[in-house]
Amino acid sequence: MRDWTRRDVVKTGVAASLGGWAVPAVAGAGEGEGAAERTPTHVAGTPRERLLLDFNWRFHLGHADDPAQDFGFGRDQEFAKTGAFMLPLFRPGFDVSAWRQLDLPHDWVVELPFENDPSLVDQGFKPVGRTYPATSIGWYRRVFDVPATDHGRRLSLEFDGVFRDCIVALNGVYLGRNLSGYAPFRFDVTDFVNYGGSNILVVRVDATEHEGWFYEGAGIYRHAWLVKTGPVHAAPGGVFVSAEVHGGGATLTVQTQAENEGDAPALCVLVSTITDPAGRVVARSATPPARLAPWSGREITQHIPVKNPALWSLEHPQLHRLTTVIEAAGAEVDRLETPFGIRSIRFDADRGFFLNGTRVELKGTCNHQDHAGVGSALPDRLQFYRVERLKGMGCNAYRTSHNPPTAELLDACDRLGMLVLDETRMMSSSEEGLSQFSRMIRRDRNHPCVVAWSIGNEEGWVQGAERGALIAAAMKRLARQLDPTRLVTEAMNGAWGRGLSAVVDIQGFNYFQGDIDGYHRDHPHQPTMGTETASTVSTRGIYANDETRGYVSAYDVNFPPWASTAERWWTYFDARAFLAGGFAWTGFDYRGEPTPYKWPCISSHFGIVDTCGFPKDNYFYYQAWWGAAPVLHLFPHWNWAGKEGQAIEVWCHTNLERVELFLNGASLGAQDVQRDSHVMWKVPYAAGTLEARGSKGGQVVLTEQRETTGPAARIELAADRPRVAADGEDLAVVEVRVVDAAGRLVPVADDEIAFRVTGSGRLIGVGNGDPSSHEADKGDSRRAFNGLCAAFVQATRDAGGIQIEATAPGLASGTLAIQAEAATPRPAVA
Ligand code: GAL
Repeated sequence: MRDWTRRDVVKTGVAASLGGWAVPAVAGAGEGEGAAERTPTHVAGTPRERLLLDFNWRFHLGHADDPAQDFGFGRDQEFAKTGAFMLPLFRPGFDVSAWRQLDLPHDWVVELPFENDPSLVDQGFKPVGRTYPATSIGWYRRVFDVPATDHGRRLSLEFDGVFRDCIVALNGVYLGRNLSGYAPFRFDVTDFVNYGGSNILVVRVDATEHEGWFYEGAGIYRHAWLVKTGPVHAAPGGVFVSAEVHGGGATLTVQTQAENEGDAPALCVLVSTITDPAGRVVARSATPPARLAPWSGREITQHIPVKNPALWSLEHPQLHRLTTVIEAAGAEVDRLETPFGIRSIRFDADRGFFLNGTRVELKGTCNHQDHAGVGSALPDRLQFYRVERLKGMGCNAYRTSHNPPTAELLDACDRLGMLVLDETRMMSSSEEGLSQFSRMIRRDRNHPCVVAWSIGNEEGWVQGAERGALIAAAMKRLARQLDPTRLVTEAMNGAWGRGLSAVVDIQGFNYFQGDIDGYHRDHPHQPTMGTETASTVSTRGIYANDETRGYVSAYDVNFPPWASTAERWWTYFDARAFLAGGFAWTGFDYRGEPTPYKWPCISSHFGIVDTCGFPKDNYFYYQAWWGAAPVLHLFPHWNWAGKEGQAIEVWCHTNLERVELFLNGASLGAQDVQRDSHVMWKVPYAAGTLEARGSKGGQVVLTEQRETTGPAARIELAADRPRVAADGEDLAVVEVRVVDAAGRLVPVADDEIAFRVTGSGRLIGVGNGDPSSHEADKGDSRRAFNGLCAAFVQATRDAGGIQIEATAPGLASGTLAIQAEAATPRPAVA
């Protein structure tokens, strides 16, 4: 394969990481006492290990105001002497019997009861923050062994996301603090580990302050890892592969930051191997041997041609793989795999967005990260479930509002074919702001799904001012250094044409329907998109606003003053080719920010699907106008006992040409369908069958019925997948339907369903999408909400059957069997 390889370009010098992943200093270090004493026993050739550190933690709430209830934190001189941080917690005999045993990811806020305190509205009425000191601090403790043979390797702890402000200490040594609730971070712990012995890791998590105006959860709510490498290795986040597609081929640019964190110089060869989606090696490039001085780093750039690559696209999200191998003195000393995609992206001021040379309208949704049953602590499979749900309505783009997502969300988007606008939380050119942004880019830049970086959202204090322009310029500069292949935008809600507008590559519009045309006319060279639109409010299965219960009708009619219906924004965007498309607020309902009604409502209604992922009626509006397949969706339900003779609005979301409506066999007339619109009738209610017949070219293509059902009779269960992996992490989403004797969903059923899960699975949460439900997510029962609820069942590590039983008084029970298939769990810390 070597003949495919062009001359390697080798650049010396360490790339600045601007705080990034807290990479240890590369010069000077190692000359102190510690280094002189080190006696490396590590054998070259022991591979890199990335061990999941999720299992068997102990957890205890602390206290934000009272040291006595906070393990003494703040009372003693924790920071005075190295090795003496919070000593009692690090004593081997420390009594953890009162500490809960749990696995990550973990969100303790989702476990708390709701409180009717108006100050908690943003966080979904969960008691966390300065006024709730007893539920705002969490302590995590984990004991693990490190073998003596690891001496001489580099060890680090990686956290994918902790909410929030946490202090991490190992064996009594304070490692550092991380403020961001969303950016990944790591600590090099090589010097603090007990080799050949037991190690105690403690994390104090302080969620007294919020970063957002939405539910954020609290705790170590993403994965944690223990990473081991040899002294010579690729730097964390230091491998970046990008592709330039031309004609039938592509040229990859592979940048690798190699580091020597050892006392001996190393004669290194970097071998980058490219594997195609079918697993065949298609290219390889090896550098000439180069000397890597002790405690130094070097960035190496390789240009690697690939002939006729399988491109990554929305329809065929095919991933290539880069295998990075560093050899020193002929032996392999580091190896890591980086999945990536070969595709071209381009934003055009007149014609929007192009993927692989073809215009693609961004049919996007903004999303927060929480889900029913689990809060912000999502097992990886749920990320895939959520993306699948969004794809099901024709959505092709996801904005990670308003923070860096977990890495697995991007894995799901890579593998399922979903474009991503990746957003950082803190818009700032301060060291902290740039560090968060840099950590996000370095982690995410190999994902083909990511098409642009968002540096902020609705930054009203600065966006229209010179300060905003200066901050944006610094952030854009950093983005270009770390990733010259993607453009930068900001989701602005005003001041277009002023301040940072002139700095960002793509002008983002939040809820700006007034003069987008004027902006485009005045700025003809700047690409544009709707970074945030819609904010339509609706509650699944509800057809009249109800302030007392906190529900909003699911007809596409309700929105706050700054927002619009689905139909209005999409009609506008669809008609303008210069716009790259837009992102509806939101795909999923999320906890917090209940709008327009507050308590008892605890969740938002902005979602096109509810917190469980059950579609609301608008889902089918988008499916009709975003998707390609014929759609005919008729609503509302037809259970209106007591409303006989009263006019009920009947809508159809469809992309067919004409719809005729029938009630109990009698035609109520046919209507033509306008592009991006819906059809509607007013129908005097009579029990029976409502039927819509949708036609195209004079032929009936689809029919849909809504029947008046009988009373609830039994429970039906269905899982999103019949089989899961018995790896201790995989998950099945069990959809629960309350049906009548004829098997029809009873659209008003609210029976309380009790769950029993036996065999190789466990129930980790329940939900029903009711934005005003105060039931426990972590309970083992849940009321149906308009006929539906959900149970989240996680596999154990034992292969075998999982049995789920759902019971409710007066209803025939539902049962379901899922198979947990033998699987190799991911490498994990014992
Ligand atoms: C936007 C904001 C979102 C959310 C939304 C609700 O202005 O960016 O975070 O608050 O309004 O409509």
